[in-house]
Amino acid sequence: MRLLSFITASSALFACSIAFPTSGTLASRQAASSIYKLPGSAWIENLVVRPNGQLLLARLDVPELWSYDPLTKSGAKLVDFTDALSLTGITEVSPDVYAVVTGNFSTRGFSVKAGSWAIWTVDLTGAVPKATQVKLVPESGFFIGVAPLDKSSILIADAAKAALYQMNLDTGAYSAVLTDASMKAPAQGSLVEGVHGLKYANGTAYFTNTFGGGFYKVPIAFDATTGKASAASATKPAEIAALTMAEDFILAPDGSGSYYVAQPNANAVTKITADGKSSKAATAASCSSVAFGRGANDKNVLYIATTNGAVFSTTIA
Ligand SMILES: *[C@@H]1O[C@H](CO)[C@@H](O)[C@H](O)[C@H]1NC(C)=O
Ligand SMILES: *[C@@H]1O[C@H](CO)[C@@H](O)[C@H](O)[C@H]1NC(C)=O
Repeated sequence: MRLLSFITASSALFACSIAFPTSGTLASRQAASSIYKLPGSAWIENLVVRPNGQLLLARLDVPELWSYDPLTKSGAKLVDFTDALSLTGITEVSPDVYAVVTGNFSTRGFSVKAGSWAIWTVDLTGAVPKATQVKLVPESGFFIGVAPLDKSSILIADAAKAALYQMNLDTGAYSAVLTDASMKAPAQGSLVEGVHGLKYANGTAYFTNTFGGGFYKVPIAFDATTGKASAASATKPAEIAALTMAEDFILAPDGSGSYYVAQPNANAVTKITADGKSSKAATAASCSSVAFGRGANDKNVLYIATTNGAVFSTTIA
């Protein structure tokens, strides 16, 4: 484990403006509003919402975690990571404590470096952010999605190895949980991007396969006593919907069993109902990741991050 120091972000506050959607056509009603744009050229790979309502933005183009406050409409760099070029997945493991994936992805060359991927924890409960490297994984292909099993264990999606791993955040111990054809993808240039977005709820793991074109679920048992996650060998992932270039997604917090999936090439967030029917929920150019607000005033607001460094929002009825 290794401790780093950080930048608190007073030097990096940016104002932003809100574009109000115009009324009228279906297309304009579906268009999400741009609420923030990172300075310069930037790529947001993932976002999560903190308990205090601020958004955390994980950047792929630089190893930086940013925050954006929808109330004050300001963004700031929160944490600089070292020994890596990029961040991919982020997930909250206990209140205001996050697991973050770092590694080497080139957004210029569109290539990924095997063996560069690591898991960090970022603790935002104190006066200053505290980031700790849990484990650099030499066997990693392309770690991307992460989801908590409990407060000290996570599932990790390896997009290049078509596998789910588990890691203990206290010890760094990790092991493979499941490898399956549904997580595999054909190579596109130097990039293999299969299993990508990952969520875990009620004993079920949900995942997208980006270049493989699908959205799946599979039961994964987690034994809190032993800390072991396991997939029954007879159980195969079941396809919820066939989706082209699906990246990250969120389970609807309203208990309806719906999902909202970012499809950057379609410039759309797609809603999938529990029975697998899909419809467009919002238009947002190059969307990569989505998250619902957590406050009374924004619990119906879907925040959308993009590979252009922008954040959009839209209200889901
Ligand atoms: C990843 O990039 C960092 C920063 O440039 C470098 O120090 C590290 O050696 C790279 N890792 C691999 C496996 O290439
Ligand atoms: C998980 O179970 C709880 C309690 O039964 C329920 O409220 C929640 O909607 C479920 N979540 C999912 C994603 O199925």
